[in-house]
Amino acid sequence: MITPVHIDLYSDTHTKPSAAMRDAMASARVGDEQQNADPTTNKLQEMVAEILGKERALFLPSGTMCNAIAVRAWCEPGDEVICDVTAHIINSETGGPAALSGVMLRPVHGNKGIFTGHNVRAALRPVKRNSPISKLVSLENTCNFGGGTIWPVNSVADVSAAALDAGLKRHLDGARLLNATAESGIKPSLYGEYFDSLWIDLSKGLGCPIGGVLAGNTDFIERALRFKHQFGGAMRQSGIIAAAGIYAIENNIGRLKEDHKNARRLARHLTHIPGIVLDANTVQTNIVFFNVQNTGHTANQIRDNLIKRGVHIGAMGEYTMRAVTHLDITERMVDEAADHLATILS
Ligand SMILES: Cc1ncc(COP(=O)(O)O)c(C=O)c1O
Repeated sequence: MITPVHIDLYSDTHTKPSAAMRDAMASARVGDEQQNADPTTNKLQEMVAEILGKERALFLPSGTMCNAIAVRAWCEPGDEVICDVTAHIINSETGGPAALSGVMLRPVHGNKGIFTGHNVRAALRPVKRNSPISKLVSLENTCNFGGGTIWPVNSVADVSAAALDAGLKRHLDGARLLNATAESGIKPSLYGEYFDSLWIDLSKGLGCPIGGVLAGNTDFIERALRFKHQFGGAMRQSGIIAAAGIYAIENNIGRLKEDHKNARRLARHLTHIPGIVLDANTVQTNIVFFNVQNTGHTANQIRDNLIKRGVHIGAMGEYTMRAVTHLDITERMVDEAADHLATILS
């Protein structure tokens, strides 16, 4: 008999809305979002604009759409976006920038997703009749496939200065920005100062079922609104889901550090399991990548064996696995997951 998954470390996207969040959703005041008449959506947008230090914000169905709309709003077909080779927009958004905006992505090779102003300058296209036009630089904080790494503010400032020198716009994929700021104690609005557009996801560590919120100045948001409609992201009584976002901002940001503590705890356990290779000191937030090559098993084999025991850890490559902690994961679950892994590999 297969045990249902009860320790789900696959991703913080697997969080489930709590009973209190569902209550907030059920009692939300609603109206027509497309006419700016949904009071709960308007409130969420104002809250996020303030958190990120921007004039306005836009509630969207997903983080992927936040990136897609920002790329479309800042670029024209044939333009180029500079981003890290690990970036989610390169690897996990179905080639959206190419498909939806006719835009090319120019990868730079940073360190765990963190790159420099020098990398930006080296990637700039010469201004020539036959070159693509470098238009936008996009950062990811925390960097998911970099291992949940936090962009230090001075690195952001360095990249931002290089972008401004070259006349590029600056975009931040902040799917997990609040993890970065919860851990570092830096205000999200401080990061906001270095970007022309940035967003946070509601459906990851904050535990909402859906949604991302994209922020910028009024001109940007007005332009983004057109693409929101064009890409099918305009909604109606969206207050039902925006209410989850408001609940999460009021209740779930303060606890994100617990997830980071659990991730470090898991990383420490893993370092004691023979064959597993990781550097526990590199775990900064809620993401733990580790290598299983020396165990004699592939990541898929280990994942499948864990699932039979009710534990889900992602296989991200032949020998690479990723565990992500979140608000549905307790310290005990972390211990139990590590025990199962040790048993499978013993
Ligand atoms: C760094 C990053 N950006 C963007 C996204 C896309 O967000 P969504 O799943 O809300 O579309 C994800 C999702 O995992 C992500 O990790």
